[in-house]
Amino acid sequence: MINVRYLSHSFGRYWALKNITFSLEKGDFLFLTGPSGAGKTTLMRLLHGSLPLQRGAAAIAGFDLKNLAPRKRYLLRRQVAIVFQDFKILPDRSVWDNVALPLIVRGMVKNQVQKRVRAVLRGLSLDRKSWCLCREISGGEQQRVAVARAVVVNPKVLLADEPTGNLDKKLSVQLMEVFRQFHVHGTTVVFATHNEELIRSQSGAKVLALKDGSIAGANWSLEETGV
Ligand SMILES: Nc1ncnc2c1ncn2[C@@H]1O[C@H](COP(=O)(O)OP(=O)(O)O)[C@@H](O)[C@H]1O
Ligand SMILES: [Mg+2]
Repeated sequence: MINVRYLSHSFGRYWALKNITFSLEKGDFLFLTGPSGAGKTTLMRLLHGSLPLQRGAAAIAGFDLKNLAPRKRYLLRRQVAIVFQDFKILPDRSVWDNVALPLIVRGMVKNQVQKRVRAVLRGLSLDRKSWCLCREISGGEQQRVAVARAVVVNPKVLLADEPTGNLDKKLSVQLMEVFRQFHVHGTTVVFATHNEELIRSQSGAKVLALKDGSIAGANWSLEETGV
């Protein structure tokens, strides 16, 4: 589902990622960890196709990122969804509108949109907040809206960049449970966090640690995987 080979990325003369190689199978749950500045967000942005590949190779959900034309990026985004730490939701629109938007821009018919949005909001316990403006709901609810908007398109891969970074412990655990549910249903999840407790709470997950742009450790053999 994800195959990364000798991936390096520089901003000017600074190498934010150096020779990253790993691969994930469908349905894997990966914690991407490491201190601030380690390169987690850069890796996420590369996998999401929002940063162009410079060196090395990467494939995700059947897309070769090296040869993905910018005008084809929308096809990748149908399979690969991302949740940002700072939500990036529209504060002056309702919860419903925020979650429906990715389906509307895809041209989905209205009653299909309604069905999907209703189901996702119910799954995230947001149904009673459907018509609230996003700026009027709590931080934890806003983060769930960001997750709802990512998963409403039924992505094959869900990338989450420190989604619990701004949440207290109880909300983090709740949000983690939401991701676990998607994972159980076959979605491949990449979850960036430096919350050790959260990582320990999910037995069976893969863990990849980055430090200064390099792989500092992994809890599975990177040698056996990949092409
Ligand atoms: N757009 C950018 N321009 C210049 N440097 C950047 C940019 N984005 C990230 N970096 C640098 O790359 C390194 C890795 O950053 P990042 O991927 O955001 O790490 P993390 O998400 O693990 O905190 C940091 O040193 C950061 O300052
Ligand atoms: Mg980051």
